Amino acid sequence: MIRLRSRALCWALLGAVTLGLLYQAGTCYSRGSFPSFSYRDPLGAHQPGAGAGAGAMPAQPPATLLGSRAPSSTLQPFLGDLYGRDETHRSSRCPSGIRKRIASTKFSSVFLEAIPVLQWARHAQPAEYRRLRSYGGAHGWQEVGWPVVRDALTRLNASANGRMFDAHPRAAAGGSPCVRCAVVGNGGILNGSQAGAAIDRHDYVFRTNGALTKGFERDVGRRTSFYVFSTNTMMNSLHNYASNGFRQLPQTLETRYIFLPDHDRDYLQLRAALTHRPVDRGPDEGARPERYFGKDLRAEKFKMFHPDFIRYVRNRFLRSSILDTPQWRLYRPSTGAVMLLAALHTCDEVSAYGFITPNYRAYSEHYFDPTHKALRFYANHDLRLEMSLWQELHQSRLITLHTRG
Ligand SMILES: *[C@@H]1O[C@H](CO)[C@@H](O)[C@H](O)[C@H]1NC(C)=O
Ligand SMILES: *[C@@H]1O[C@H](CO)[C@@H](O)[C@H](O)[C@H]1NC(C)=O
Repeated sequence: MIRLRSRALCWALLGAVTLGLLYQAGTCYSRGSFPSFSYRDPLGAHQPGAGAGAGAMPAQPPATLLGSRAPSSTLQPFLGDLYGRDETHRSSRCPSGIRKRIASTKFSSVFLEAIPVLQWARHAQPAEYRRLRSYGGAHGWQEVGWPVVRDALTRLNASANGRMFDAHPRAAAGGSPCVRCAVVGNGGILNGSQAGAAIDRHDYVFRTNGALTKGFERDVGRRTSFYVFSTNTMMNSLHNYASNGFRQLPQTLETRYIFLPDHDRDYLQLRAALTHRPVDRGPDEGARPERYFGKDLRAEKFKMFHPDFIRYVRNRFLRSSILDTPQWRLYRPSTGAVMLLAALHTCDEVSAYGFITPNYRAYSEHYFDPTHKALRFYANHDLRLEMSLWQELHQSRLITLHTRG
């Protein structure tokens, strides 16, 4: 009954929101168990940047607990708390996976079972373009022309492009059907941790940005199954951490590259990779994809996060108070945060290493820093909110967050 009602509401809203635009059947997200539903801010249209609520950036906001966050039902409409559907991430046969456990935690009210995690050829449709161009940055396609989106995504047409895991090696060998993932941030907490062997024993190892392993194997491991980046953060990492030894991305046989698409740079880079040509315009014009991803540029090597997933993470898991300020457009969850939440939505077990913890001051910013550097807080992320989310996910036993005495 709730489903029916929410579905009707969903369609009604789509009608209102998209002004009668024809919408692909089945992509409208049913609101599941949300008891109440409202797209209007009960206090009236409070739009950051539109005057009301404008003011200086708040001093570091206190880390909010999920229970005290604004419920999603009161999200301002421009944040776009309405998503496509994707069934591909529900196929796990693990009896005790995260998806089976989440319903009995406080995250059941924010979790959407069919949220699309990845985008690929299936999403290269004009209707999808009309829907997603309402949202900017990493949250939609506002800054990307349709031909670029189309050319990049239609080439992500291998079956591996729609799923995080191609084949699960242990399950294929008759072992446990549960996919165990190590998700490795770059925090200084890993320095001296000796966690490398444990990290490499997982089925898959996720890394991001300055994912330096050479010389740090004992603490961080050797394997990289997934390298997560946006073109911007990847270029910055190569530039900023070259002197630490990070001169190329991980390029092992198992490595797959997951783009966090932010503006059009990532679609241009992906299109260049899949057509084996240099990037043809923008800030990376002339860049050769082989330089980053190696010579094997088959579609199977690449994946791309869906803007719905990033918006969902922002709106429901990391709804920072920055969104209530005039700088709201700049805000997105950090690349590491999107990586960890993508693992939460696809793996059956998640161990997080090198993520921010409350005693972060005891550690350098990165495990590979030669001398101590204090952790920097960027205005476009909310690392304190991310820190409290990792604590809550750990307390809810949905992830194992590795900390040190
Ligand atoms: C994917 O698209 C390429 C052209 O970009 C084509 O050659 C190939 O056959 C397609 N593969 C599949 C599985 O459809
Ligand atoms: C890494 O750990 C070693 C051993 O505990 C310590 O001497 C060194 O200062 C640490 N590096 C940084 C950058 O904090």
